[in-house]
Amino acid sequence: MATALPHPESSRAAHFEVLRSRDEGFAKLLMAFISTGLVFMVFPGTFLGVWNLLQISGRESVASISPAWIQAHGHAQVFGWVGSFIMGIGFFSIPQLRAGVKASFGRAWTCWAMWSAGAALRWVTNVYRWEWRVMLPVSAVLELAAFLIFFRSVSQHQRQESGQKQLEPWIWVVISASIGFLLLLILNLAGCFYVAFRETTPAFTHVFDQRYLTLMAWGFLVPFVWGFSAKWMGVFLGLKPVRSRILLSAVFVNLTGIALALAGVVSVGVWFFLGASALAIAALRMFEPAINEPKTRGVHRSFPFFIRFAYVWLVVAAGLGVAAVRWDHSGGIWGASRHALTVGFISVMIVSVGQRILPAFAGMRVLWKPRLMFTALLLLTVGCTLRVGCEVLAYQEYVHSAWRVLPLSALIELAGLTAFAFNLAGTFVLQPSHAVNEPMIARISGVNV
Ligand code: HEM
Repeated sequence: MATALPHPESSRAAHFEVLRSRDEGFAKLLMAFISTGLVFMVFPGTFLGVWNLLQISGRESVASISPAWIQAHGHAQVFGWVGSFIMGIGFFSIPQLRAGVKASFGRAWTCWAMWSAGAALRWVTNVYRWEWRVMLPVSAVLELAAFLIFFRSVSQHQRQESGQKQLEPWIWVVISASIGFLLLLILNLAGCFYVAFRETTPAFTHVFDQRYLTLMAWGFLVPFVWGFSAKWMGVFLGLKPVRSRILLSAVFVNLTGIALALAGVVSVGVWFFLGASALAIAALRMFEPAINEPKTRGVHRSFPFFIRFAYVWLVVAAGLGVAAVRWDHSGGIWGASRHALTVGFISVMIVSVGQRILPAFAGMRVLWKPRLMFTALLLLTVGCTLRVGCEVLAYQEYVHSAWRVLPLSALIELAGLTAFAFNLAGTFVLQPSHAVNEPMIARISGVNV
């Protein structure tokens, strides 16, 4: 007896259904990472940062507040927020996931759960000291294990994708940042074990923390932004092609700076960071006239301005590092340098690029309110300018009234970051997904979002 062949229309519908459910699974995973990152950024990260700064300003001394609380804030921002964003976007680039392979999705969700639990546990432990001698190492193990799952998935993909082909320079930069991230997590684990066995509070000691922060800033955060800038900014801003050799030399100079700083020769290392930043800007051609129209569809037209301004903050951060070696006697110039980097460079970049790409990645959505994007970036820039300037003036005792501006600067930055979180949450919740009409993955190829 002859079996009836499926009607072409019904097999097309079935295929479409498979693509649709794969896209939905994909968007859910990305939104889980991004929403978790946003929660870390607003509550454990920024609120605690503002609280710390209000305390410091009230007492007119940074030494008067708990280092464990300062470190809880920094950890929530860098690992809870930035780390979650990087992993979410990293998983997005893995073909096994795109192909809808169940085991790969399972791994990605396990990674998300372990990462979020580890970062949350660290915050609770630092702030409430709950069973901290046990929980501090546990949190670091969870974070490292989650990262290893991520690293394995991404590096398998890189190997498959590259085959015999030579890797593009931006991939080398991202690899260097990923290795920096891995080393940072290992250092974090070592630091947690040391503190759990030897110290009387859950805070890293000052000397260890300064080296750890150098690796965090220049070994992990900065090269990630350079790598993604090299991949995306040519298209987004219409820039001339990247000068690959100069970009790789920027990475090399930066690595030398890190090695010097970790070896204790900070006074020389800071010059390498300044030189590496100048080289990266020259390589990316950030301030050269664009050759194509910037791609600002769906976002605020100020987008290219803020991306360039973020690179101004990078130079300010590196320059303040050089100044700190010479003049800092209060922690104020170092603090200003770190803030110029974490808020001025990293956060402005994430707030700009995040609102440009994430709505499309999360199910072909359109950004909820482009004007709110501008408001967020403006507030962040104004707040950061006040904070960086006044931190130097107040902590160094150059201008006493600058202490009164610092709380205001924190509230302005808080408003900027909250506006960003609202805009993304509004996009995920209120904007319809267009992936149903046209399979999302088919449309998102590289940067054409
Ligand atoms: C409203 C925004 C923010 C406020 C008010 C704030 C406040 C602070 C304060 C008061 C400190 C203590 C040291 C100092 O006085 O300079 C600090 C340190 C730090 N902040 Fe923030 N911050 C904010 C945003 C961020 C962001 C967005 C990041 C990262 C992406 C970040 C990362 C760090 C790090 C890594 C430290 C050093 C922690 C340590 O000593 O181990 N902060 N912040």
